[in-house]
Amino acid sequence: MWSSSVVARNTAVLLTLSLLKLSKGSSVVKSGVSNYSFPDDFIFGVGTSAFQIEGGWNEGGKGESIWDTYLHKHPTFTYDHSNGDVAADSYHHYMEDIEMIKNLGVQAYRMSISWPRILPNGTDNNINQEGVKYYRTIFEELVKANITPVVTLFHWDMPTPFMDLGGWTNAKVIDYFEDYARVAFSLYGDLVKMWLTINEPKENCITSYGLDISAPALNLHGLGEYLCTHNSLLAHARVYRMYEKEFKPDQKGKLSIVLDASMGLPKDPNKPEDVEAAENYLQMHLGMFAHPIFSEEGDYPRIVREKVNNMSRLQGYSRSRLPYFTDEEITALRGSADFFALNHYITELMSPPTMEPNWKVPSINQDTGVKMETDPLWPMFGAEWQHVYPPGFRKLFNWLQNNYQILKKIPIIVTENGMTDFGGTKDYDRVDYYNDFLYQLLLAIHEDGCNVKGYFAWSLMDVLEWTAGYTYTFGLYSVDFNSPNRTRTPKLSAYNYANIVRTRRIGFDYIKRPEDLNTITSK
Ligand code: BGC
Repeated sequence: MWSSSVVARNTAVLLTLSLLKLSKGSSVVKSGVSNYSFPDDFIFGVGTSAFQIEGGWNEGGKGESIWDTYLHKHPTFTYDHSNGDVAADSYHHYMEDIEMIKNLGVQAYRMSISWPRILPNGTDNNINQEGVKYYRTIFEELVKANITPVVTLFHWDMPTPFMDLGGWTNAKVIDYFEDYARVAFSLYGDLVKMWLTINEPKENCITSYGLDISAPALNLHGLGEYLCTHNSLLAHARVYRMYEKEFKPDQKGKLSIVLDASMGLPKDPNKPEDVEAAENYLQMHLGMFAHPIFSEEGDYPRIVREKVNNMSRLQGYSRSRLPYFTDEEITALRGSADFFALNHYITELMSPPTMEPNWKVPSINQDTGVKMETDPLWPMFGAEWQHVYPPGFRKLFNWLQNNYQILKKIPIIVTENGMTDFGGTKDYDRVDYYNDFLYQLLLAIHEDGCNVKGYFAWSLMDVLEWTAGYTYTFGLYSVDFNSPNRTRTPKLSAYNYANIVRTRRIGFDYIKRPEDLNTITSK
């Protein structure tokens, strides 16, 4: 870990209730040190994913994923016309990455395995030993350093041969995903005790299958996102039950699926129609994925079933565009998670649609039937979609806790949360972002009794941000994408996060903006 003299810090550790103040260019922040601390069993981590950092796209026997293939065929698809051929080059620099993780002092590292790096065609008849060794070395090094690897099996880099066969819209792909998962558990289960099956099925299914925002931009809205959703959920359940039967008794690991959720709030909390719109949004975008797994009754939420069935009927379909689970599938899905893995970035304001909306038809957005807006007063520091509103985080924990009783027994672990900007190491706004979001998390634990037991900052370093290429950065470490070595440099947010991890409290003044320092000096 870095010595605490590296950055200006407040020497007086004030265990007082922090005062609200408005910091220039930022959201509401606090001062002093947080009155609440992170419990002893709370895990801090950082995250990345294979395609976003590894590079080495055709090295060491790796096969192609759809992101390799699509970006090669459509070089102008990303905003800056970049691709993931080299990315942060973690394929060669993973030892530096591990040093960076150690410096942060976190207990866990979330990363993903590139399916085609260990199974070049996606199938288990051809296991690529170089790929196998690459991940084994990383897991061994992490364990040696006392850092728990938390491993995602599918973070969107579908082997191209399976994408050509329809990807997640093809139910047969579930069998092959199960084979891949079995290979991974057999190879690494001695070292990896926390597994995540699929990252953000909602985002993947909507943006890649339903729309044309992510590779391979299928734009099959109305059916594509629901077939993908249905099969992704079934694939998760299949792998959970397989792990439970074949590996858990010996390996004793835990497994879940990563669900992403924006918080939906009523635009006007006094208007019942806005309150209803917010609930509809949450059920269609989060309940659709969470209810089958975490509710007592299982299956899609009633409101989701009704909405898609009604709209399908009105559109002249003789069957619902949202497929049905069999009773066995409902049972397999129900309870198929050992913790709730949650990714959260933003809050949006909901109301009924007022004008003819420009949704693609048919589509999940049209089925949801809600107008989504942001509050222009919420600050934005990078991506146009990311207006920053920390209190939404706390409200989301409460929504989950109220909707799923099982969360009294199994914890929520935040597997992603972080902020975009346009680069630079003096990222004061990101420092505030982490302080503010983590403070909301503390309030959710200490004042609302939410069962939140972990937090992974996204991301360890600047990554290839999918369709946005390298235009925004998310990292605690900056990566110089123009240098052959992909030089990594800690940002202020890295020092700040390390301080939170070390002290288990938020030091709101640990990193001071130059203008704050000036104020102090001139006093
Ligand atoms: C994904 C990450 C991505 C992040 C920021 C999540 O949807 O899991 O891969 O970088 O959000 O957009």
